[in-house]
Amino acid sequence: MKECIIITGASSGMGREMAKKFSSSYPVILNGRDLERLEETRQQCQNPQNQLIWQYDLENVEDVEQTLATFLTGHQVRVAYFVHCAGYMKTYPLKMVSASLFQQTFNINVISGALIIKTLMNRKLNGDTLKSVVLISSNISNFGAKAFGVYGASKGAMDALMRSLAVELAPKVRLNSVLPGGVRTTMTEHMYQDEELVKRMAATYPLGLGEANDIYEVVNFLLSDKARWITGQQCTVDGGRTINITG
Ligand SMILES: NC(=O)c1ccc[n+]([C@@H]2O[C@H](COP(=O)([O-])OP(=O)(O)OC[C@H]3O[C@@H](n4cnc5c(N)ncnc54)[C@H](OP(=O)(O)O)[C@@H]3O)[C@@H](O)[C@H]2O)c1
Repeated sequence: MKECIIITGASSGMGREMAKKFSSSYPVILNGRDLERLEETRQQCQNPQNQLIWQYDLENVEDVEQTLATFLTGHQVRVAYFVHCAGYMKTYPLKMVSASLFQQTFNINVISGALIIKTLMNRKLNGDTLKSVVLISSNISNFGAKAFGVYGASKGAMDALMRSLAVELAPKVRLNSVLPGGVRTTMTEHMYQDEELVKRMAATYPLGLGEANDIYEVVNFLLSDKARWITGQQCTVDGGRTINITG
């Protein structure tokens, strides 16, 4: 049976970049909701015919385990690596947040990822194949910003989940998270439309602005055996943005 990598959020941004790069090493299972953009990603991968599309809305956490199990069985594949890159970010001040916003954000950012890991640990379905998981968190996980309460809470929960599962699933499976700083993608495009804002933003990054490939390089290292003694860690990849206290 083929050993694959699952990448959620593969229809756009960092997830697409990772899918393209990882496709030269493993068959990739591409997850997202938008079939057209998933197909575009597949065409940009090495050997498109080897890459599988798992179109699924991760907000639907009730069915994620069964749907993924059926998908893996149907395609006769096992999964060695998982990158949870799908993300939902709405920035609202407290007076505008609602229970449903919390629920939607946590379903996509946290709960679906946890249930995918649970499914991949099912021995009947995936044997002992799962080796390493990276959750794409955010540097907001350890800091604060106006209107970032819901999204920040979800990324903080993601990192707490990652640490406990790293202990529970050791030594078979390693789990780490990557905390990117601002990267230009569909999620953040609106910010990059404003030239003045981009200048101000760039000035706060000691290493300048980053790109999706900067995130891929670290994820690739964490998934690989080179990181065999690293688990349960938050790895900030933000060009020094969060250690910069220059006034
Ligand atoms: N860009 C940044 O500056 C930045 C900074 C820190 C952290 N992050 C994190 O990095 C990750 C990737 O974000 P990005 O910047 O690459 O954003 P992006 O280009 O907007 O991509 C987001 C991805 O998430 C998927 N997604 C969203 N809702 C989904 C759902 N309900 N079910 C399945 N897939 C869903 C989207 O797929 P569909 O559109 O096909 O549904 C898309 O592929 C996210 O977790 C984000 O929180 C981003």
